[in-house]
Amino acid sequence: MFKPISISPNKAENLSYFLQNIEGYISQEENQLTNLSNFAAIVKYFFDDVNWAGFYLYDGTKLFLGPFQGLPACTTIAINKGVCGTAASLRQTVIVPDTREFPGHIVCDEASLSEIVIPIVKNGELFGVLDIDSPSLNRFDKIDQDFLEKGIAVLIDNL
Ligand code: SME
Repeated sequence: MFKPISISPNKAENLSYFLQNIEGYISQEENQLTNLSNFAAIVKYFFDDVNWAGFYLYDGTKLFLGPFQGLPACTTIAINKGVCGTAASLRQTVIVPDTREFPGHIVCDEASLSEIVIPIVKNGELFGVLDIDSPSLNRFDKIDQDFLEKGIAVLIDNL
């Protein structure tokens, strides 16, 4: 089993460690649930100031809660609803600097003040989304988005 895991106070270096660990741990030889669980754990480890990180998966009709790190959360989300449903239907990453300002934001944990949701689309088919919440306003930027999308690309290759 892949072992490296590290942490750096330098954001660029830290995010490169994040990606190295995703590449090391996510493997086609592992069960999908295993890969999703390790992915959520790696996000939670490398992204500071995050209170929730995990997956909502698409069953053909709606999103349902998948592997995550954080407090128990909403179990299902309709496509088009909330930040997750919006990113799923747009098939684009959505960054919300202030969740209180996002129309239709679904409150699972009242501590969450900013959020990023990355859609997961394989061969044109929606698989689900990766959702990350922070208790701080404006926690996520384009650099976070870039590394998270690269990590999700690794996951997609191994689904
Ligand atoms: N806030 C999300 C719901 C999921 S929780 O944050 C874990 C949304 O608006 O879709």
